Amino acid sequence: MSDVVIAPSILAADCGRLNEEIKEVSEATSFLHIDVMDGHYVPNLTFGVPVVQSIRKNTNMIFDVHLMVTNPLDFFSPFAEAGADMLTFHVETVEDPDVAIEAVRKLGKRVGISIHPDTPIEKVLPYCAKVDLVLVMSVRPGFGGQHFMEESLDRIAAVRKVIDEAGADTVISVDGGICDETAPRVVRAGANYLVAGSAVFGKKDHAAAVKELLACALS
Ligand code: DX5
Ligand code: ZN
Repeated sequence: MSDVVIAPSILAADCGRLNEEIKEVSEATSFLHIDVMDGHYVPNLTFGVPVVQSIRKNTNMIFDVHLMVTNPLDFFSPFAEAGADMLTFHVETVEDPDVAIEAVRKLGKRVGISIHPDTPIEKVLPYCAKVDLVLVMSVRPGFGGQHFMEESLDRIAAVRKVIDEAGADTVISVDGGICDETAPRVVRAGANYLVAGSAVFGKKDHAAAVKELLACALS
């Protein structure tokens, strides 16, 4: 996965018509970002295992599950069984990231590690070449529709440097405040997997919004 991709975040979707919303974005991308929040690690609640199970029946999209929970190890297996393809945990939420990485690998799923904007980027660097995806949060996790934090650009660049030096092909994801204006800048900094909630589901034609965002990202 070396090209740039857009992963719509269903946090901004109309949950009353979730299957239709997913079908619409599936016309423009293969990746779907699913935010799991527990009301502890972040001050909000969102989707649980039954939601993932349910939407799995209606789409072949690649499910990228972003676990914003204090105890991610308890949830790898349930979400894997429910149909997740990629499981991303936060570096702040585990005692030993290597143990968490290994736990996801044992389930045969792709593994991602994420970092909160308040955590020094050095915390994630030792794991960049060991995972499939590094998710650099560009807003404080918990809510959609926030402004992109400018300091994220340097953080993405630091991750890119380590990955390139290691000769790894780890994907660099960025999540929060991605729009037509920020997309090309995060790509220039080194990201190649752009999560977008409001920039996709906030527009009437979701598939067109994904295509437009990708075109901007590559401009
Ligand atoms: C925030 C979530 C994001 C969120 C992004 O905690 O992790 O995935 O949906 O929303 P936007 O794209 O609206 O900033
Ligand atoms: Zn997310």
